[in-house]
Amino acid sequence: MCGIIGAMEPDGTRDTVFQALARLEYRGYDSAGAAFSGAGGAIRRIRVVGRVEDLKRAAIPSKQGTAGIGHTRWATHGPPEKKNAHPLMAGRAAVVHNGVIENHAELRAELTKKNRRRFSSDTDTEVFAHLLDMALTDGAEGAEAMGRAVARLQGSFALAALTAGREMILCARRGAPILAARGERGVYITSDAQALGSRAREIAFLEDGDIAVLTPGRVEFFGADGRKVSRKWRAAAQNGEEAALGGHAHFMRKEMLEQPAAVAATLEPMLTRGRILPRFFGPGASATLERVQDAVIAGCGTSYHAGLCGRRWIEERAGIPCRAEIASEYRGMARPRPRAGDLLVAVSQSGETADTLGALRDFRGSRRGRSLAICNTAQSAMAREAHMFLPTRAGIEIGVAATKTFTAQMAALAATATAMGRTRRIYHSSPMSEEREKKGMKELAELPDLLRRALELEDEIAAWAKTIAKARGVIFVARGRLLPLALEGALKLKELSYIWAESCAAGELKHGTLALVERGTPIIGLAGDDEWLPKTAANLAEAEARGGKIFAAAGEKFQMKGARVIRVPKCPEWLSPFVFAPPMQMLAYHAALELGADIDKPRNLAKSVTVE
Ligand code: M6R
Repeated sequence: MCGIIGAMEPDGTRDTVFQALARLEYRGYDSAGAAFSGAGGAIRRIRVVGRVEDLKRAAIPSKQGTAGIGHTRWATHGPPEKKNAHPLMAGRAAVVHNGVIENHAELRAELTKKNRRRFSSDTDTEVFAHLLDMALTDGAEGAEAMGRAVARLQGSFALAALTAGREMILCARRGAPILAARGERGVYITSDAQALGSRAREIAFLEDGDIAVLTPGRVEFFGADGRKVSRKWRAAAQNGEEAALGGHAHFMRKEMLEQPAAVAATLEPMLTRGRILPRFFGPGASATLERVQDAVIAGCGTSYHAGLCGRRWIEERAGIPCRAEIASEYRGMARPRPRAGDLLVAVSQSGETADTLGALRDFRGSRRGRSLAICNTAQSAMAREAHMFLPTRAGIEIGVAATKTFTAQMAALAATATAMGRTRRIYHSSPMSEEREKKGMKELAELPDLLRRALELEDEIAAWAKTIAKARGVIFVARGRLLPLALEGALKLKELSYIWAESCAAGELKHGTLALVERGTPIIGLAGDDEWLPKTAANLAEAEARGGKIFAAAGEKFQMKGARVIRVPKCPEWLSPFVFAPPMQMLAYHAALELGADIDKPRNLAKSVTVE
């Protein structure tokens, strides 16, 4: 989704801005742009519909300013056309924007009528360029000009602006994330710390309502009341991490193969202690985990599917009622106000997904209950705003499709359930006996190896994919703890190959979805060696009897004449979702490969979804 970079370097910022934009590409975007200025000079702007590479080619190599802003745009207001790409300009102001200006239509009408302003784009952003230019024309400068313009806006946004003739970048935040950074070569602002690579030595997050002013070598912060404030600078630890393909054709394949390491790194601090202690969740977690009486896991897309796995673990291992909810739906639900013993678990790779962040903020706003964020980005809004934080240590994930972060989230949720069960055993009663805990810890330690063995199924899955790629539509079915993996399999296939895919509980097939089955329709059945196996097998037989072609990912007990079967590695039943994850991911990957789709950047999608 949209990404912002702003840089001030005495030797010129063009290369820094382009490199940062390339690092923002993984978020998903359809157009890109940049603007440069320096002391006394005019603003020069370039914009393209397409890739950052195209933007670089369009740039004039000899001209660069000491102040630069750049943007990758994922279209919301107005189609992906050059006129709508950021920066948007009006008079002396050039502006880049993430988020949504909700009252843009009223402002546009007012500015057109009263102020005779002319608009050149369909965006909500352009009104802000005009508001800033008007404040500058009225004699305001720097933070004051920015404050006046921002005061007219409703919605949630992060904004960065250049003003002609000034060596200065102005920045404002309400809702959407943005941070300032200092490094050896200059000062910066960005919506995503990854963009800066090793350039940032220290970073400081803007708080809601803040304005930041960047001048050569200096960053100043102003609060919502216009007064100077100080914000905490912290070391930019992980930002040097380079994303490289390392010989793989796609980031997605590299990231799928990194799953054993991602899960091992996520669990490592806990496994080396032999116990999942509350302190891994942050200060005060012991008292919180002890008191939980009701839990809700909120997430979107793949993170929601991890939440569905986690829900079952929390109920089984800690004996605490738990639901998993789609974050955007959870927000609108009529439900009782949170109570003291309620726990909200926000699950998100990015930690910035607007709907999940919104669910977390609504919950925190009630001032009751406690929250836990499980994210892959320690500096994200969710990690900072939740009462407790458990990191997934999957490393940077570039492919838009979540893979290693999914299994790392599942590992973190399995660990959370174990910690909750253990804490409750100490203070109350819990299904987690000491013996069960010990056994569970040993089983968790074996997860990386199980994943490694599941990844060895790639050739067999690639052979399935040749048939699947020719299908008009595919149906994924499973029961019980494997149902989330059927949902995930269908999501991955849609996302990557653009093949229509349906997912449903195996028992639900006969209540409607079976009508879709015709001769040759592929039915992907997930069948573990568990209590649901006979029923799942019966449901698959019903589909086969109607012409469906059965592809089963199964344990060793499943038998069906005529079905194409891939045997997943044997594993403890509660952890079976882990061994079904790689086959589902690889099926989508190889089907997309067969169809020549853009695997790491599927059409219409973004890595980090910061709009609601
Ligand atoms: O960053 P998040 O985990 O909160 O993102 C949630 C979804 O947007 C994400 O999982 C999405 O569904 C993936 N692209 C699926 O592969």
